[in-house]
Amino acid sequence: MAPHPATSEFVVMTDAPEATRSLAARLAAAAQPGDLLCLIGDLGAGKTQFAKGFAAGLGIEDVVASPTFVLMAEYAGWLPLFHLDLYRLADASDALAGGLLDERQLAGVTLVEWAERLGEALPTARLDVVIDGTGDEPRRIALRTDDAGYRRYLEAAA
Ligand SMILES: Nc1ncnc2c1ncn2[C@@H]1O[C@H](COP(=O)(O)OP(=O)(O)OP(=O)(O)O)[C@@H](O)[C@H]1O
Ligand SMILES: [Mg+2]
Repeated sequence: MAPHPATSEFVVMTDAPEATRSLAARLAAAAQPGDLLCLIGDLGAGKTQFAKGFAAGLGIEDVVASPTFVLMAEYAGWLPLFHLDLYRLADASDALAGGLLDERQLAGVTLVEWAERLGEALPTARLDVVIDGTGDEPRRIALRTDDAGYRRYLEAAA
């Protein structure tokens, strides 16, 4: 996704999965109810590693894995965490049929892997976490938003 002219962006490099997890844990300190974070990157980029770190930052002790057999997994932390993976979604409109952000999710934070599958259906009020790199490469993690209310995540990363 090319940055929009009004987009705020902050880039962090990580050289190990632990570094991606600790970045995500720091960002979780900025979380507010109703937030939407879109995790974008190739297979093996580190989207689930980010989700694990973010969950730890919310005080969640459960093991966070990709919600392979359910569309959405829910965890209880100091804010509830909703973790979605749209990779296997046949038709992205399925995800929206029930509403990407239903009333329950407004009380917590929603992390969506492969969120770009929803294209134009994604709300503007969101943080994109765009991860470049796979395998043993360092990861370039760009935090991007077009919504001023989400800049607190960029500040938390700085
Ligand atoms: N800097 C890094 N940040 C994150 N993960 C890294 C990093 N370096 C190596 N890795 C490794 O890359 C893999 C990332 O896997 P992960 O499941 O998080 O990817 P994913 O983006 O969720 O993939 P998928 O699209 O299959 O869900 C892990 O095996 C992790 O150990
Ligand atoms: Mg994953």
